[in-house]
Amino acid sequence: MEPDFWFDSWREGGTKTSFHLPKVHPHARWLAETGLLRDARVLVPLCGKSVDLLFFAEHAREVVGVELVADAVDQFFSENGLDPVREAPGVLRAGNVVMRNQDLFELTAEEVGQADVVFDRASLIAFPADMRERYVESVARLLRPGAAWFLNTLEYAPLLPTPPFSVGLAEVRERFGASFAVEQVFAEPKPEHRMVEKFGLTSFQENGYLLRHQPQDAWVVPELDRVSA
Ligand SMILES: C[S@@+](CC[C@H](N)C(=O)[O-])C[C@H]1O[C@@H](n2cnc3c(N)ncnc32)[C@H](O)[C@@H]1O
Repeated sequence: MEPDFWFDSWREGGTKTSFHLPKVHPHARWLAETGLLRDARVLVPLCGKSVDLLFFAEHAREVVGVELVADAVDQFFSENGLDPVREAPGVLRAGNVVMRNQDLFELTAEEVGQADVVFDRASLIAFPADMRERYVESVARLLRPGAAWFLNTLEYAPLLPTPPFSVGLAEVRERFGASFAVEQVFAEPKPEHRMVEKFGLTSFQENGYLLRHQPQDAWVVPELDRVSA
């Protein structure tokens, strides 16, 4: 969605920011158990005021959240009793958590540095289909070769014209398959989810995908090994 939608959502709060969870997301806990966070720089695009940032800070070297709306960033620090240091305009640090109050679409790897792991919960699906390609490109240019991208999506029917948008395996393969190995690690039907009754949905599930970037070299090296063996 366009920026005004998100500024209005955070200004109104309540049901408009019901995507915010008071607890660490179970998929974040699962990601920590894989060992992928060890010594990693974790990027959380479109992070809102997610407490997952604090959880990752316990398991990773550094966590970088990117959030457009200053209200969300302020609430993150105040609700968690943190007193951040301003490193640069829009860049706030508390320990190994960095919050960038910036537009993801405008960030470059030169400014942000490269990430080893992405945690994307309700971020790709915050955008309609015609913005999702730009979103994927914007995140991908902040990754080091070989990075891991954990992608959480919702998948439901019938489709709705508002976030969170429905994204399933077929679209994930289509968008990521050329550069990432795609593994679906969660497919959790949730008939009790509040959206089901609210929108009269006939199916609803929460998905988790582990995407592993396949840099060109990773394909070439095994070929050479095989030939010389
Ligand atoms: C659906 S929420 C997801 C929040 C978060 N991932 C979580 O788990 O709570 C989408 C968030 O992305 C932010 N956002 C939207 N467009 C953005 C952009 N271009 N750059 C950075 N943040 C953006 C919104 O303000 C909102 O907080």
